[in-house]
Amino acid sequence: MAGLGAFPGLPLLLLVSLLWVSGSGASVWPQPQFLSVAPLGGCLLSAGRFRFGYGGASAVGPGCSVLDQAFLRYWELLFPFGRRQAGKDHSDVPVCPNLLVSVAEPGCDGYPSLDSRENYKLTVSEAQMLLTADTVWGALRGLETFTQLPWRDEYGTFYVNKTDVVDFPRFPHRGLLLDTSRHYLPLSAILETLDAMAYNKFNVFHWHIVDDPSFPYESVAFPDLSRKGAYNPATHVYTPTDVKIVLEHARLRGIRVIPEFDTPGHTQSWGPGVPGLLTPCYAGQKLSGAYGPVNPILNTTYEVMTKFFDEVSLVFPDFYIHLGGDEVDFTCWKSNPDIQEFMQKMGFGTNFTMLESFYIQRLLDIVSSYDKGYVVWQEVFDNEVKVKPETVIHVWKENGGSYQEETARVTKAGYRALLSAPWYLNHISYGQDWVGVYQVEPLAFEGTPEQKELVIGGEACMWGEYVDVTNLTPRLWPRAGAVAERLWSNQTVRDLQDAYVRLADFRCLLLRRGIRAEPLFTGYCDHEYNIF
Ligand SMILES: *[C@@H]1O[C@H](CO)[C@@H](O)[C@H](O)[C@H]1NC(C)=O
Ligand SMILES: *[C@@H]1O[C@H](CO)[C@@H](O)[C@H](O)[C@H]1NC(C)=O
Ligand SMILES: *[C@@H]1O[C@H](CO)[C@@H](O)[C@H](O)[C@H]1NC(C)=O
Ligand SMILES: *[C@@H]1O[C@H](CO)[C@@H](O)[C@H](O)[C@H]1NC(C)=O
Repeated sequence: MAGLGAFPGLPLLLLVSLLWVSGSGASVWPQPQFLSVAPLGGCLLSAGRFRFGYGGASAVGPGCSVLDQAFLRYWELLFPFGRRQAGKDHSDVPVCPNLLVSVAEPGCDGYPSLDSRENYKLTVSEAQMLLTADTVWGALRGLETFTQLPWRDEYGTFYVNKTDVVDFPRFPHRGLLLDTSRHYLPLSAILETLDAMAYNKFNVFHWHIVDDPSFPYESVAFPDLSRKGAYNPATHVYTPTDVKIVLEHARLRGIRVIPEFDTPGHTQSWGPGVPGLLTPCYAGQKLSGAYGPVNPILNTTYEVMTKFFDEVSLVFPDFYIHLGGDEVDFTCWKSNPDIQEFMQKMGFGTNFTMLESFYIQRLLDIVSSYDKGYVVWQEVFDNEVKVKPETVIHVWKENGGSYQEETARVTKAGYRALLSAPWYLNHISYGQDWVGVYQVEPLAFEGTPEQKELVIGGEACMWGEYVDVTNLTPRLWPRAGAVAERLWSNQTVRDLQDAYVRLADFRCLLLRRGIRAEPLFTGYCDHEYNIF
């Protein structure tokens, strides 16, 4: 459970929301590390004249796919009505110059990685507007910040105040998990989520693509997996082309895609497509007709996994693959006489954790042979499976605060940790549950500074039992924004009243950009969401 029951800040927030009216700009979400906005001055941002451009010293220029396309996108987000944007010319206010973007390192065609630098500096004044970054990924973050700065007067004219920003993320891994197995999410819903992720400076899309209920990933090596395991093999699948579209949409926004193929549990949907892969369960002496987790005692199982992960490691360019490993139910294994015999032969006795470890170790060896790293759910660590030192352990179990202890144990053993336990956004409750999400401090566990260094970030999770395309977006946004700020901004950025005002403002920005984000509380936006 996500433990979001308490809302200590609520009376305060009630008051704030009554007083709050649409601000005059410079509320940025997530809060930059250093932001200074002058209370006056600035310049007029004219749709007719304003352009993004490359700085003279930039190592990348026209033809850089990532930035060329970002310029187009952000220009349209700034001026949704195009060049004929309404507005009055105020001769007393200077017109802003173009925003020049300067990137120090060449490289526009690659993919972002865990090591990519996303720092940037932004200087805005009537004399010059300059965005500098080490990499194109940092430039993308800076463009996002820049487009959150302008404000409009009552005539619809855009202004941007004199502003200085120096910014970088607190954690390098800031992820969001979507579950496309429990409900199929159409491609457009995934692409829209990637857009909104970029607005929040999230940089990892954790694609929990298959699970027990359905197998929508269309495999070239094993086409029967989706043919027999998808809800509908014609309409409810992700074709190789769909996957390429997701990867490129994400790349252009500086977002990594980490696919998850969870085994040996959570694999019911694999069964029909690969006969013999799952363990047959017994009722007494007889086969019951049901199937359990992947059958770990057959050589064919590892042949299937070798071929399957060969494909996966080529399709998904990121170094990391998420291999799951959570919630393995031993009941079926226990019922099966062949498994019992294998256990005796291997000297496992009746310790099924050892059988699970046996499977996972072989799987990890297969995946590392493709030069890939892996992320696994915490049970793999809890069950003492021998993993490579560079494995990332994903902490998800939330039992009365024990995730802090788990993070301490994981990092004490020298593994890197990712936090999701307090960030299960599929859990909802009445009231402002973003507050509990926001108040989490990922490093609030007992440990040395070296241990804290091993926490590479976290992920907001949107499991799909009760979520499909109808409620995905309002359930995600702006609530996931609370996680985004926790992972991007300085640890000291925790003031609930300030966060409320900025998040409410940011939610209005999301509406303007066409994202159907739900309200935090009473209030209004200048531009409400238009269903038509
Ligand atoms: C931006 O400048 C305007 C005046 O031009 C001022 O009213 C507003 O408070 C300034 N915004 C910030 C965040 O200081
Ligand atoms: C499975 O593979 C192992 C090692 O490669 C081999 O010793 C064993 O005989 C194989 N088992 C079967 C049933 O083929
Ligand atoms: C099963 O084996 C694991 C090590 O693989 C060990 O940690 C655990 O205590 C064992 N469980 C039992 C019930 O013996
Ligand atoms: C975070 O903010 C505190 C207080 O303003 C400051 O001392 C610290 O250096 C900041 N951390 C980083 C990484 O900038």
